[in-house]
Amino acid sequence: MNTLKNILVLFLIVVLASCSKNISKMDASESSMISKKVDSLMGLMTLSEKIGQMNQYNGFWDVTGPVPNEGDAANKYDHLKKGLVGSMLNVLGADEVRKVQKIAVEETRLGIPLIIGFDVIHGYKTLSPIPLAESASWDLEAIENSAKMAAEEAASAGINWTFAPMVDISRDARWGRVMEGAGEDPYLGSLIAKARVKGFQGNNLSLPYTIAACAKHFAGYGFAEAGRDYNTVDVSISTLYNTILPPFKAAVEADVKTFMNAFNILNGVPATGNRFLQRDILKGAWGFKGFVVSDWGSMGEMVTHGYAKDGEEAAKMAVNAGSDMDMESYLYVKYLEKLVNDGLVDIALIDDAVKRILTVKFELGLFDDPYKYCNSAREKEITGNKKIHEAVLDVAKKSIVLLKNENQLLPLKKEGLNIAVMGPLGNDKHSPLGSWRGEAADNSAVSLMEGLQLYTGNSITHQMGVKLTEGLPNFTTETIINTTDRTGITEAVAAAKNKDVVIMVLGEHGFQSGEGRSRTSLSLPGLQQELLEAVYKVNKNIVLVLMNGRPLAIEWADKNIPAIVEAWHLGTESGNAIAQVLYGDYNPSGKLTMTFPRNIGQVPIYYNHKNTGRPTYPGGNSVFWSHYIDESNDPLYEFGYGLSYTTFKYENLKLSTNSLTENNDIEVSFTLTNTGNFEGKEVAQLYIRDLYASLARPVKELKGFEMLSLKPNESKQVSFRIDRKMLEFYSANEKWETEPGDFKVFIGGSSKTVLEGYFECK
Ligand code: NOJ
Repeated sequence: MNTLKNILVLFLIVVLASCSKNISKMDASESSMISKKVDSLMGLMTLSEKIGQMNQYNGFWDVTGPVPNEGDAANKYDHLKKGLVGSMLNVLGADEVRKVQKIAVEETRLGIPLIIGFDVIHGYKTLSPIPLAESASWDLEAIENSAKMAAEEAASAGINWTFAPMVDISRDARWGRVMEGAGEDPYLGSLIAKARVKGFQGNNLSLPYTIAACAKHFAGYGFAEAGRDYNTVDVSISTLYNTILPPFKAAVEADVKTFMNAFNILNGVPATGNRFLQRDILKGAWGFKGFVVSDWGSMGEMVTHGYAKDGEEAAKMAVNAGSDMDMESYLYVKYLEKLVNDGLVDIALIDDAVKRILTVKFELGLFDDPYKYCNSAREKEITGNKKIHEAVLDVAKKSIVLLKNENQLLPLKKEGLNIAVMGPLGNDKHSPLGSWRGEAADNSAVSLMEGLQLYTGNSITHQMGVKLTEGLPNFTTETIINTTDRTGITEAVAAAKNKDVVIMVLGEHGFQSGEGRSRTSLSLPGLQQELLEAVYKVNKNIVLVLMNGRPLAIEWADKNIPAIVEAWHLGTESGNAIAQVLYGDYNPSGKLTMTFPRNIGQVPIYYNHKNTGRPTYPGGNSVFWSHYIDESNDPLYEFGYGLSYTTFKYENLKLSTNSLTENNDIEVSFTLTNTGNFEGKEVAQLYIRDLYASLARPVKELKGFEMLSLKPNESKQVSFRIDRKMLEFYSANEKWETEPGDFKVFIGGSSKTVLEGYFECK
């Protein structure tokens, strides 16, 4: 046995070590070289070893400590030693990863290294803003760099695979996971998906500071009915193709190495067992070469959905449908061998899945050096270093959105002001880390109070007013919101009376959004609205700083409070970023990527909706048009909206021609002028409407944008090119095509555009 093992190991060393260069965008010869290595290795594998590669376990135990001894988990350690585990998640730290990797490499027959996954969603220990916030920067370079820094830090701690980016389009702010995505628009969402994949994976996946990315959740998860997590998804083919799928397709174009399927059923079929999604579209039409991991336990949940009879059938359905790796359902490892032997699953499907998984391991360079991510000296050196802090501060500032600024209350003067900071989030170091906070330590964010105190010219006090939560909320348990303790309100009101400015820091706790955190209300939670109104009665000079993981319905604040700053959950450098914006050291440039409703009853609300047959008030006292009798149709803040300390004017729209043909694109140009007193950045946006088509098209669709920086009084000529490809959509003919017809083009600083033109597409 030992001699056999020695021969095998020698063979592997000789064959595999020559495969030293693994780059993300590989040329044909490199990829065929890897393919040969994979084939040779697979030639040595037994069926159960192959199935082992398709099995992923949560590594909740310390391998040197007690081994789990209950239920399915009891077999984990044994499986690991037998080569029946291909991947683990949640094993963290260079030393810990080395321990499990050592078992896989040194104790199993073939010594195939594990791929180690973790949810590096907006950072590992040093956190960037939550992804929804980052998307509001519209700054693809900053977003890419933030993912790059997250990869560097995570890779130094042994991780070589992140379960990110989440590219689910979301239109329903009740859904807690909107914080994890890039908002409601498929075009912007696609560009951000590419930027994040590029950031994580870099140009050379085999380097010890790049990691494999994972586009998730395939597909439709963001369309959960009523915004309730894990709920049913029923959408038309047109919505699926035109809205939901584009960011996934973009991730494939960016060479994303893995996909994760989803918990939900899509039009009756669980995503995990969905052949149409995984085989026909992803691996078929799009030619995706990486592998698909199921979401946690989602294979087993096919039984609960009422789709599979039992675990065995679920395993069969999942593998047939194209799920390559089982995350924590224990079903592949239990049933696949029998299913193959009984002739119920074709061995070719197993081979295909294993080939995909091994290919990614080769590309990561794990066969060259399985411990390349396990260098504890590098971990110490990289974790929380200056470069990472600078990057997360940079993107945090850019993510802030100025929602209102009456009478130029902001920016604040740096000297001579008496300021009261109020509200439970004003000195909170825990909440701004947001949900999905990786390994960030509790209370490791810079609080707003700390950020403001770096500016020493003003006097600043802090009053909590009301507590937001009980205890120190965490990822797995329900966050308890204070709804009874009002004792601090009187004190806060007294302190607010004679202040020049009151900065109210209110919003959601970091653990009020994220997985399993759906809400039926979008108001300020707990007693915060009461506090806001009480303080407003004695001092109207209020700057409201919001910290939240989803759009909120803040109509009262919008009517009454002069300045509102959307600061989201900005991560580790939160307080520094907000302070720089409040004091004008950074002129806000963020724009919303999800519509803010006036009222939760308007949800789902999104800018790229269809027109209906009765979109406007017909006059008289008719009620027979598409509206609410108790609320306007308009959002509070539309997609693309965001102010600056300066102002911008759009004028002189020109189209180079009004006729778009195969050979003749249109150039749309206009003049943008900074009409205010500050230098500032503006995201100029291009929208198009297809006026009639084989399927009714949205009233507006984002088709381009450019971020421009202008000095006061400076003007710039801006232009966008429109070509036929830009007008493509998944039509009634069930294919992507550009239909001839009439189109409208719009330009502006938000989806409420200010310039309009027409053209015809021949
Ligand atoms: C479940 C979540 O839906 C998914 O996004 C995540 O990656 C896995 N759990 C692993 O933590």
